[in-house]
Amino acid sequence: MSDNLKQSINNVKLGENTRLADFVNLYGCEIGDNSRIGAFVEIQKNAKIGRNVKVSSHTFICEGVTIEDDVFVGHNVSFINDKYPRATANGQPQSEADWVCVPTLVRKGASIGTSSTILCGVTVGENAIVGAGSVVTKDVPANVVVAGIPARFVREIDSGAVVTDTGPKQVPFLDLKAQYRSIKTEILPAVTKVMESCSFVLGDEVSAFEREFSAYQNAAFGIAVNTGTSALHLSLLAAGIGPGDEVITVSFTFVATVAAIVYTGATPVFVDIDPDSLTMDVSEIEKAITPRTKAILPVHLHGQPADMDPIIEIARSHGLIVIEDACQAHGAEYKGRRVGSIGDMGCFSFYPGKNLGAYGEGGMVISNNQDYEQTIRMLRDWGAESKYRHVLKGYNYRMEGMQGAILRVKLRHLEAWTEARRNHARRYDELLADSGVKIPCEMPSNRHVYHIYAVRIPERDAFQKALLALGVQTGIHYPIPVHLQPAFADLGYKAGDFPHTEAAAEEVLSLPMFAELTSDQQDTVSEAVHEVFMSLTLRPSECLLFPLNEDQQYTVDLEGVV
Ligand SMILES: Cc1ncc(COP(=O)(O)O)c(C=O)c1O
Repeated sequence: MSDNLKQSINNVKLGENTRLADFVNLYGCEIGDNSRIGAFVEIQKNAKIGRNVKVSSHTFICEGVTIEDDVFVGHNVSFINDKYPRATANGQPQSEADWVCVPTLVRKGASIGTSSTILCGVTVGENAIVGAGSVVTKDVPANVVVAGIPARFVREIDSGAVVTDTGPKQVPFLDLKAQYRSIKTEILPAVTKVMESCSFVLGDEVSAFEREFSAYQNAAFGIAVNTGTSALHLSLLAAGIGPGDEVITVSFTFVATVAAIVYTGATPVFVDIDPDSLTMDVSEIEKAITPRTKAILPVHLHGQPADMDPIIEIARSHGLIVIEDACQAHGAEYKGRRVGSIGDMGCFSFYPGKNLGAYGEGGMVISNNQDYEQTIRMLRDWGAESKYRHVLKGYNYRMEGMQGAILRVKLRHLEAWTEARRNHARRYDELLADSGVKIPCEMPSNRHVYHIYAVRIPERDAFQKALLALGVQTGIHYPIPVHLQPAFADLGYKAGDFPHTEAAAEEVLSLPMFAELTSDQQDTVSEAVHEVFMSLTLRPSECLLFPLNEDQQYTVDLEGVV
């Protein structure tokens, strides 16, 4: 006991000029020079406090805690050093031998706000700031502000001063700028080359891209056009589809799939989707076939290939053409075969946000059939067989030279980007497995390329708003199925016609997904998803709508969320 009876100080190594307030309780610890320890602070044995540290009143610093120099600790801060403390061990009061002390480190210059709790095993990084009342559950990086329960990233700090005040961390749905930054040095010379050659429409770069992309997709021919919609339109025309014909497709797709059929004068006929893959339910196709049916147009939605073998088999047995809408599925594979080259023709979009995106619009038809190739090549350029000799009523659907050059550069990165997307998807699968949302299914026959990573959740719209409030941008692909779109009311469909399609449209929510997505961003998304699921008032009956795998049990305490 110290001389001063208002202090309890035992076996403490005290630095010079260190001042202790009344009613401190310090034992077996070490405190460096020039530090200040406030009233009612307890510091346990083996705790180490550095120089110039200020510990405010009522704080508890336990064994296992190391606080480096220049740290500020507010009032009433609690450190914890045993994950599963018990009062007794084997029926006896716990002894020191029973404690499992997990060390905690607060690095130089950090500040810990009043009434925070720091769980054991974490490191609070240099100069980091923990907001008052936070509960720190995981490592805090250097030079950041965290706050809340659990503590989350708020903003970065530069040299100890807060220089950016961007509010909660934002995770964009898509970050095209990050991709551009990573390939800028390759893109600019490619663009300059086109400028200098003045090959602004079609030209060598587009021809080379046609060869390279069709080879990548395992097709003999590629015809570059100005959009994915044009690719669909021209492939339908090349297949001879027109007024009076029917084309079987899905309603759970981007509107362009259906619009392209309507452009030809043919009638789209919808079938429902399979609820797991979200692609065409092949068991529905036969029922939709009539004497007018000319083609089947499956969509490899979100980057997941449709079940192509039965589609081809049905098509062959009825003499139908198969056109694949692969606008979202660059590099995707079905049973080891690249999509787009499985049916008679495959159509791709190079819209900027696609897995392979132009810096503007772009599209391509690929095929192994030379007749289709020649027809489409003419149709995209005013139906011209040779200059100013127009043998077909064609269109101006040509690809720009600049887009060809840019897409050639990007194609070199596509495999790496696709693998990055697939890794992100696997990580999301793990992070979200117990979150309450339904994660996407990758069908066993497929190499899904995760253009979209769509989870499913009832009360999706509220969920989306709550995620946005936490800084997580999401998308919905697609909220209204085409058969319920006002523009297609004349097709005569009504709500209830395609139950799986309509349920998916109400429940899908696309999480941030792009090759450059960081683990930190994924963690933020995952934490937000968990938090929103817990905080939204979900009725138990709704929660239980999620099918549970045998090995995947709910960890959400339903009583707690009602
Ligand atoms: C499934 C699907 N089909 C067709 C298209 C049309 O492509 P584009 O926008 O290049 O015309 C898209 C693109 O958004 C799409 O996602």
